[in-house]
Amino acid sequence: MPADIQPAYRQASQPIEARVADLLGRMTLEEKIDQLHQCGIGDTNPNNLAARADEFRATYGSFIIGGPAETVLATRNAFQRHAVADSRLGIPALFGADVIHGYRTITPIPLAQACSWNPELVRQGCALAAAEAKAHGIDWTFAPMVDHCVDPRWGRIAETFGESPFASAIFSAAAVRGFQGEAFGGPGSIAACLKHYVGYGASEGGRDYVYTEISSQTMWEMHLPAFEAGVRAGARTLMSAFNDLNGTPASANAYTLNEILRRRWGFAGPVVSDWNSVLQLIRQGFAADGAEAAAKALNAGVDIDMADGLYRQHIAAQVATGRVQLATVDEAVRRVLRLKFELGLFEHPYTEAGVLTAAAPGATPLALAEELAGGSIVLLKNHGALPLVASAKRIALLGPLASNGGALLGCWTQQGKAAETPSIADALKERLPPGATLRVEPGCSIHSAATDDLTPAITAARESDLVILCVGEDAGMSGENASRTTLKLAGRQEELVQAVAATGKPIVLVIISGRPIEIQAYVEKMNAIIAAWAGGSRAAAALADILLGRRNPSGRLAITWPRTTGQIPLYHNTRPRARPGDEGEYRDAPTTPLYEFAYGLSYTTFTYSALRLDRAEVKAGDTLIAEVTVANTGPREGCETVFWFIRDPAASITRPLQELKHFEQARLAPGASRVFRFEVVPRRDLSFPDADGRRILEPGAIILTAGRSSATFSVVP
Ligand code: BGC
Repeated sequence: MPADIQPAYRQASQPIEARVADLLGRMTLEEKIDQLHQCGIGDTNPNNLAARADEFRATYGSFIIGGPAETVLATRNAFQRHAVADSRLGIPALFGADVIHGYRTITPIPLAQACSWNPELVRQGCALAAAEAKAHGIDWTFAPMVDHCVDPRWGRIAETFGESPFASAIFSAAAVRGFQGEAFGGPGSIAACLKHYVGYGASEGGRDYVYTEISSQTMWEMHLPAFEAGVRAGARTLMSAFNDLNGTPASANAYTLNEILRRRWGFAGPVVSDWNSVLQLIRQGFAADGAEAAAKALNAGVDIDMADGLYRQHIAAQVATGRVQLATVDEAVRRVLRLKFELGLFEHPYTEAGVLTAAAPGATPLALAEELAGGSIVLLKNHGALPLVASAKRIALLGPLASNGGALLGCWTQQGKAAETPSIADALKERLPPGATLRVEPGCSIHSAATDDLTPAITAARESDLVILCVGEDAGMSGENASRTTLKLAGRQEELVQAVAATGKPIVLVIISGRPIEIQAYVEKMNAIIAAWAGGSRAAAALADILLGRRNPSGRLAITWPRTTGQIPLYHNTRPRARPGDEGEYRDAPTTPLYEFAYGLSYTTFTYSALRLDRAEVKAGDTLIAEVTVANTGPREGCETVFWFIRDPAASITRPLQELKHFEQARLAPGASRVFRFEVVPRRDLSFPDADGRRILEPGAIILTAGRSSATFSVVP
């Protein structure tokens, strides 16, 4: 080949498949296996790369990059230079990071985002995160997390989109579209990674990294839909989970990976293991040693080995013994290379600093974060205390979360900055109406401190007209490895709530958390309750606007809010109980939740008409049109979400009491009304999977509900 002719893989004009084939044909087995290795950069000083050439080989396929935003780009480019300039074939590396709910600008935790019921805003939030991350040289986010979980003791429930598989599927697709953009690899587009595939959210007892027991039926109904939706939306990668799934760990599970994901859904991209999840096969008792773990994971369909290095250490020998076929290695490498070509890394391996690099978030991204934060706040109770009335002149802002901006960021926010994040106190001070005063006292710390002196807070409450009491969790209390045995407030916070309640002053309870909190011991004493979650960079501004009536709350719970920890699991889409009345109910507490799924109040009122159907019978190929008219009958503009649930009262496989099938949101002026419509497509909306994932559409009655109104129709052959 003449010296001036580039090899095919370097020619951008060649089809990607031809480039992949050409490059693969030039690679040694060792170079191939290195492409399947991923390691964390940690706080490695990139200037020392040459000295650490064994630890960070130029042929490694991908890196996880973190650290402060100011250092990310330079580190990334230095590692990239190493990959491109110091390796025989000059294959660029991929740089992945946990961009979960924002990069520099932090949007609410995913559980809160789901409470906005606004997939378009969620998409925009992910697009913003992608643009900021890409400006720092990140090619790939380990998000969205679309695990199904009904146990709020599990810290990672904060990262989920709530308990409805239907809603999770919608948000999964929205997030993928946001991160990846319209044109994959184009400006602001990074690769998404659906995680953790699959079943991790069923962790026993809410403990992390433990066994999961999931029936095939539940797997198809609850755990798989959000992954399938993300794959259909074009997600380029998936992450295999930590959990042992019914005896076959998810990171070595050929059925979920090779059979369902690849063969049935046609997923063509790479699957990355979770951090050390290949190594963990040994601890889980699924492999005797690293060699067996590596072979089992790769053979099951895990292409990239994150962190533990077992592929590097063992796959070559496994190929030699025939336990792993060379074709399996080649296929995994093809998936990795294809992604790199698609991302344009061969043409543009480096990222140049731009306006977004390390800069503090500007007004436009902050406005988006505020909109999403505002939409996700759920007003749980309001006995006239909100919005704050002009007579509430002396306001006591109490609780350990009143002045803690950092806690509002939530879990997984490495590049968000507490110092840049206004606290609730900051936001309220800025907006305080003339004549009103704010007295701020923490009362106690979040975690127990016997020495905390509650007195100043109680005195402040006594000397006030109204108390805003901010309690809950700090950022580290949810997310990974943050399980709890109780949903009660930590430390002396509950004692503080009770002591403040004893003053008899009106209280607005503001809960900042990554999960529902058990509040039943004092719920009756509160005049208003707000679930504000961990709402990100602009959470305080959005919350202050709601408190002061400058914003009308519209969030609705994406997760059931239990009364007590002992009720867990408690979720809307459970199956009917065998006996009626109170038979089977708890004897020491109500069986119902404190606040149901989809619950949330507004400062205005909405009235629903009776539900109308355009037919009483529907055939498989028909579309049934259901409508309900919703009127804003209250004093101010508001945003209403209409939730459409179905129930199939008699089926060959029992069906949940309620299944969310459609939701729609609209802003309505006072006095205005709007027709909300659900076009029911029987195969899509009324069928259900069997234990092998085959969808069944059965004749018989279906009950459709919107608001408190329902109607019955029949599916006919
Ligand atoms: C988490 C993943 C995360 C990965 C990389 C793991 O511990 O389970 O969600 O993407 O680390 O940081």
